Amino acid sequence: MKKTVLVSGGAGYIGSHVTVELIEAGYDVVVADNMSNCDMTCFEGVKKITGREDIPFVKMDFCDAAAVEDLFGRFKIDAVIHFAAFKAVGESVAKPVMYYKNNLGSFLNVLEAAQAHGGCNVLFSSSATVYGEAEKLPVTEQSPRLPATSPYGNTKQICEDILRDTVKATHAAGATGAINGIALRYFNPIGAHPSALIGELPRGVPNNLVPFITQTAIGKRECLSIFGNDYPTPDGTCLRDYIDVVDLAKAHVVAVARMLNGKMKADYEIFNVGTGRPVSVAELVNSFEKVNGVKLNYRFVDRRPGDVTAIWAETSLANEELGWKAERSVEQTLASAWAWEKHIAESNKK
Ligand code: UD1
Repeated sequence: MKKTVLVSGGAGYIGSHVTVELIEAGYDVVVADNMSNCDMTCFEGVKKITGREDIPFVKMDFCDAAAVEDLFGRFKIDAVIHFAAFKAVGESVAKPVMYYKNNLGSFLNVLEAAQAHGGCNVLFSSSATVYGEAEKLPVTEQSPRLPATSPYGNTKQICEDILRDTVKATHAAGATGAINGIALRYFNPIGAHPSALIGELPRGVPNNLVPFITQTAIGKRECLSIFGNDYPTPDGTCLRDYIDVVDLAKAHVVAVARMLNGKMKADYEIFNVGTGRPVSVAELVNSFEKVNGVKLNYRFVDRRPGDVTAIWAETSLANEELGWKAERSVEQTLASAWAWEKHIAESNKK
């Protein structure tokens, strides 16, 4: 019997890549999204890549408890990957209530429905943001979670705790309604599917580095601002662990299989999903220019409030336990990001 995985927020950037990998690994996937931060471009791309026109798609808001309950009634869901959340750090500072209500509310509804329908395997999309400005690098899963610097970051920490507590309580309560949980802490996901049919499609001015780079290269933005060149790093710009989105998507597939095949070592587990390789902003910009043969217009400006100096992952737990390792080079990933930006530009001409 094929297992069914629900992907909440499955029409978005990471969700669409995960959907492709799940289908290619032989799972049935139900995609559900309220389309608040995306259009159908990526879902259409998923159908093209997989050659599957019949992927169930449900337009719904995970903050609507009745709709979530209804979804779990309609499909026999073996695992949920929960992406449905707001993700802009700056916006979360301006609109904390909106962020807490949406990001916590939607997740609570998923857990409630999962319990009511006999239990489930739940994979939560967490972030390296939970580590804050770490004292010791690279960060391991045991590194302390520092107080979040934004409501967005706080929702990631709180949702991890909600999952941990729910897993514990439902296992203590007995066999029915038990929830197994995995939190994957992503570092900086970038790039696009090699087909260039799905990728990141930010609305308005991008907050994240790579979409800003590709939009500058294509002429949508005049100039990339590099936030700070006076950090205590080798070239003065921040260090991050940029993880290819397809590699990241594959980590979800192995994590789901681990849950479904009873291979977990604890009922709630956490894994860093990164490459283990720090790359500076300036290095990333230079690599982009070199690999794609384009010149980027950029300038150095003041630091962006809230940015940490450096963060990268210790990945041995994911490597050993999940049998997963990031495979694509930064160059390959930056080439894929550029191919995607050009694909969008071509589609917009039509
Ligand atoms: C942020 C979030 C992270 C989230 C990720 C993806 C925090 C602290 N960070 O990571 O949780 O998962 O976005 O949504 O919560 N930069 C520039 N110019 C730009 C844009 C960025 O120089 O126009 C620099 C930043 O200063 C940073 C690096 O590029 O050093 C990466 O920035 P960004 O892509 O926004 O990701 P993070 O802030 O690391």
